[in-house]
Amino acid sequence: MPSTLPPPYYNDDKKSFAYPTIHKRWPTIIQGAIDDVRQSVDEQHPELQKSGTAIVHKLEELLTEFKNDAKVRAFTEQEIAINPYLEHFNTSLAHFNQARLVTWQTGPWLYLECYLYQFVNNFFIDEQTDKFWHTYDVFARLKTKTFKQSELGVLELCKRYESLSQQLGQVAGDQEALYLLFAEFIDISLWGNATDLSLLAGNVTLEDIKSVQGAEVRKKNEEKIIVNDLKNAWVESGLGNTSDKSTRIDIVLDNSGFELFADLILSLFLLDSKLASEIHVHCKEIPWFVSDTMPKDFDDLLKQLSDGEFFPEIYKDDAKSITTVYEKITSYYKSNKIIVNHHPFWTLDYNYWAIPKFADLYKQLKESDLVIFKGDLNYRKLTGDLQWPKTTPFSEAIQELKSSGLSILSLRTCKADVVVGLPQGLNEKLIKEYEEAGNEVGEFWSSSGKWAVISFNK
Ligand code: F6P
Ligand code: MG
Repeated sequence: MPSTLPPPYYNDDKKSFAYPTIHKRWPTIIQGAIDDVRQSVDEQHPELQKSGTAIVHKLEELLTEFKNDAKVRAFTEQEIAINPYLEHFNTSLAHFNQARLVTWQTGPWLYLECYLYQFVNNFFIDEQTDKFWHTYDVFARLKTKTFKQSELGVLELCKRYESLSQQLGQVAGDQEALYLLFAEFIDISLWGNATDLSLLAGNVTLEDIKSVQGAEVRKKNEEKIIVNDLKNAWVESGLGNTSDKSTRIDIVLDNSGFELFADLILSLFLLDSKLASEIHVHCKEIPWFVSDTMPKDFDDLLKQLSDGEFFPEIYKDDAKSITTVYEKITSYYKSNKIIVNHHPFWTLDYNYWAIPKFADLYKQLKESDLVIFKGDLNYRKLTGDLQWPKTTPFSEAIQELKSSGLSILSLRTCKADVVVGLPQGLNEKLIKEYEEAGNEVGEFWSSSGKWAVISFNK
């Protein structure tokens, strides 16, 4: 890395959201994983008592390592033999160790957060453990529970989609009106990112969920979008051109459940309106940052939408609206207009400046007319999660990606420190405002999930 770049955020920086993350959030998430494994053994698989207990012990040891600020170890040869991609983590770890010894409480936040989920995944894919655990998603129970609690938000989006086809008929040929619809469905997908289980971890209440879903909340939040390059993206990516050319849009997904549902509603709009002819969605291959979408979560979502018992209220009063959405998604999926992809790159520690080095993935993405990156982690990886001054232009913060030939649109509710592209003085104003609202650390405005950015680079 050239020395002119700013440093990353570190876990011992009390003004960084990394600090409460290592001291509170990661322990809560790991404790949740322990409880989940125990529950699976006790309630469903008593025959897995031995292997389940071994996994629980490893998770407990990890909690102790957090507490004791243990040194972070390299992945072993045996672990790398099972998952060769872990070699990349060792290369980066050696690099970070040169600057200062990497420990849980002091190391670089983004690197350690990615390392953590791979480290935990190793406990489940270990060759010595029962095969059952190899494909086990320790966050699945929480993902399902939260999506079930999102019933009202789901109903609202189904109804919104129901009225869309009529509107599409009316706006034919009117580019300005089509743009307004585009902006609305982007907004739905953007704020869908507020339902994030790694932030709500542990005790998600119905009130929590309602407070981040729904049209009224989105309307109220309009002024909270502090960078908005959407119009620019519309014009420069040529989306609004009315030619018959085929247009491919990629969505690098973030969370499953409600956010994935919102992203699929956006996809339906893009396909129905013919703004896109194909949508490629990109998933994670392992359980990641609690709620991220794996290919099986996409399948689960389809099953949940068609299961009258999963969303009983909708099926009782508005079955048609949900079956319409279900059938539409299924039909686009079957006809390869919605394509589900996955790649190990998305669960490495690398930031996205490295995409051009992963030739197969880069080649795929280059075929896209617009790559939409959803959510906070994707934004952190686009910008390297470095301590950029907040007025740094987005195009500078994404470094090599600027000239990679990819059209990049990031839709992100801010849940971490890094934010770029702000006008002069806004960061200072928000720090003050956040403190005046009774929060101890004003800098945490940017990790509160209450503000959002829409950033574009062609
Ligand atoms: O800071 C909260 C956090 O867990 C970050 O570590 C991570 O970047 C983010 O939330 C995950 O959010 P999202 O699901 O939007 O990527
Ligand atoms: Mg996520």
